Parts: sequence; structure tokens; C-alpha cells
Amino acid sequence: MELEIRVYPDPVLRKRAEPIPKITDEIRALADQMVETLVKRVGYGLAAPQVGVLKRLIVVDVEDELYMVANPEIVEAGEERVLGVEGCLSIPGVEAEVERAYRVRVRGLTMDGEEVEIEAEGLLARVFQHEIDHLDGVLFIDHLGRAKRLQLLKEYERLRHSPQARSQGKEKEREKEGVVI
Ligand code: NI
Repeated sequence: MELEIRVYPDPVLRKRAEPIPKITDEIRALADQMVETLVKRVGYGLAAPQVGVLKRLIVVDVEDELYMVANPEIVEAGEERVLGVEGCLSIPGVEAEVERAYRVRVRGLTMDGEEVEIEAEGLLARVFQHEIDHLDGVLFIDHLGRAKRLQLLKEYERLRHSPQARSQGKEKEREKEGVVI
């Protein structure tokens, strides 16, 4: 079942998600539905708050590798920082360059309840950082300077209120021009 993706300014996107004490069938089913939703919407990652569930669960789909991680945390981040274009399924139609660590080490739980550590770099590292931010109510626009953020939100409002611009935005999302995370 495809889940409804909450879009900005839905307040659920600004809340802190709760840790998952145990991987249950319910959590596994949620992860599967998030993957299905992600694949249909052509994104690289999705966090549970984006489908209205305040639990620390993310799914990441980069270069044919699929990760479903509960309670993910960044335990180490490289010093090198890089710029890359990001968008977000919860702020559809707009994108901006965001600075992130090039390399991170992520720790969390697999859907078997096993602890896992993932060494990620480049795009994969970017997507993990973006999704883990979602679990703390942080959006990619928060990483921009004030002027850039306001300009982006103005463009977003314009898209939201213009059906024609909105359908163009959807086209763009499908083409996966930027990195829609
Ligand atoms: Ni996002």
C-alpha cells in the first residue's frame, strides 16, 4: 500500500520521532510500505515522519542498494564537506545546494533486530544525513542561509497555489533531475 506523503508545512515534519524499542511485524510492515511508496515516488530515501509516523525509521534506496534502518544515528562524520543539490518529497518542486559531510558511519538496527554499521560516502552519505535529519524535525531548507531559504519557500508557495506550475514540478520530480530525498 502506497502511503500518503506529508508535505511542508505539515507540523508532523517538525516533530522529533521516538526510538523504536523492538523490531516487530508492525515495524517491518511499515518499512515495506515506505519502500513501496519511495519506489513509486522516485526518491532516494524516506523517513517515517514523512508518512505521519513519529518513529525513528528510515528507508534508503541508492544505486540499487536498499537499506531499512531503525534508530539510525551518525556515529562518525568525516571532516570533508561537500555541496550537492537536494530536494525532498515533503517539499516537492524545489531544490537547493546543501553542504553535508562526504563520509559518515551510520549505526542502527536492521529489520531482523540486528545492530548494523554502514560506511557511507557521496550520495549514500548525503541521503542518510537528510533522512536522519527528518527524524529530528530538521528539513534540508534549515541548512540554507536565511535569504536562500526564504526565496525557496516563496517559490514553493507559488508552486503549491498554481496547478500548472505544480504539474511542472511533478514532471521534474519524475525526471529525477536533482536529488529528491
Ligand atoms: Ni526529505
